[in-house]
Amino acid sequence: MSLQIFILAAGKGTRMRSDKPKVLHEIGGQAMLRRVYNTACQLRPACIHIVYGFGGDQIMKDMADLKNVDWVYQAEQLGTGHAVRQAMPNVKDDDIVLVIYGDTPLLSVTTLGRMVAAVPDRGLAVLTANFSDPTGFGRIVRDSAGAFDRIVEQKDASPEELKIREINTGVCVADAGVLRTMLNTIGRDNAQHEYYLTDVFSVARRCGMPVVTVTADDPDEVLGVNSCVQQAKVEKIYQRKLAEQLMTDGVTIIDPDRINIRGSLSCGRDVVIDINAVFTGNVVLGDRVTVGPNCVLKDCEIGPDSVISPCTVIEGSKLGRHVTIGPFARLRPGCELKDEVHVGNFVECKNAVLGEGTKSGHLTYLGDATLGKGVNIGAGTITCNYDGLHKFKTVIGDDVFVGSDTQIVAPVTVGDGVTIGAGTTVTKDISDDMLVITRAPRRDIPDWKRPGKKDRSPKNPEEQQ
Ligand code: UD1
Ligand code: CA
Repeated sequence: MSLQIFILAAGKGTRMRSDKPKVLHEIGGQAMLRRVYNTACQLRPACIHIVYGFGGDQIMKDMADLKNVDWVYQAEQLGTGHAVRQAMPNVKDDDIVLVIYGDTPLLSVTTLGRMVAAVPDRGLAVLTANFSDPTGFGRIVRDSAGAFDRIVEQKDASPEELKIREINTGVCVADAGVLRTMLNTIGRDNAQHEYYLTDVFSVARRCGMPVVTVTADDPDEVLGVNSCVQQAKVEKIYQRKLAEQLMTDGVTIIDPDRINIRGSLSCGRDVVIDINAVFTGNVVLGDRVTVGPNCVLKDCEIGPDSVISPCTVIEGSKLGRHVTIGPFARLRPGCELKDEVHVGNFVECKNAVLGEGTKSGHLTYLGDATLGKGVNIGAGTITCNYDGLHKFKTVIGDDVFVGSDTQIVAPVTVGDGVTIGAGTTVTKDISDDMLVITRAPRRDIPDWKRPGKKDRSPKNPEEQQ
């Protein structure tokens, strides 16, 4: 006997009004299907069977890395019962089958575990929830003794049944042998002319098989996504939960409604996150880090006591201790800012290492560069790393002073202790402790008369230049 998990993901998701299969739409920056798959994996099933149909090519492409998956193609979407039937040949009668939907991304492993534990011998268990607004869901009909009787779909329900607030979440567990037998008995005589998986439960009851219900503790967790409106609602619930967990762990979040985590965010002690911060991939914030408003951080590690000022974008980079960055700074992938580095406004760095205490305060591009310790980069400095075809590297030693408006044309090495005068174009290596300066000589022209508005004739030779 082993656990087999079915994920139903063949539906088109018509109400999403999208060319993309519904289960590829994202919650928390991850496709819903991947989220459900990851949760399912935690139960350590023998195999995960994904029933796919609409947009199959795209699903297979996006999910090519998923392991231990039996991909089951459902050519025609004839209903949830039909979908489950497609995967049945791949399980044995003494297996346990857990069915979940690819469009229910917030399901917790705890709830799924409770379901698996609840399934009676040679019987079925169904996960229900109580919704204040049950519109659209199948309703759980109970007999006079309160025992489960059947599930009625919204479209087939009587006015009385529509008042029931206990709904079918779609998650169910069954003895595979029983499920196989029951699936062969259901038909399509209903409002949607579909094979309803839900009919399996009433048939099982009629045949005297045990059917139990498990109620989800948190109704939010079983919310399905059928439209962009529901997607946004589920996203909000997901974000709120992450924010609450961080706050419980001691993170100050200025406004928990205005933080967005699309991956994993791990925070040290006394971290402060201001409004509209977006975290993507794996982000690690050290103790006492502050993140200003409107920052976007992706796959990066920020050392303790660092300050990220407003509107800073950091991707694929590592920052040491006491680093100050922004406002309006951008680190592209491959940057390493050592302790005490300062990167200020309108500075872009890519694949650059900035040594301890190095400062680049304003309007600069540092690409494919290694800078030593205690370097000062003046405003408007550019490492010219690209000749139109190839990228080249700039190496700058320790304690270098680069004056403003300097171009450093790579490949080039600047020695330790070098001073570069403002406005210099560096094209050749500089040895240690030099002062270099390239500057056109200044000309002073006394008593210069600016041309008057009417005098547009080019008689002044200086003006012609
Ligand atoms: C289904 C349930 C309903 C429940 C609701 C919970 C049935 C008949 N109804 O209704 O009781 O309250 O879910 O969200 O089961 N799918 C396939 N192949 C198909 C049809 C569907 O793979 O042929 C997949 C869809 O991709 C989706 C899931 O099954 O992931 C549910 O299908 P959907 O059409 O959304 O079912 P509902 O009408 O919402
Ligand atoms: Ca649905």
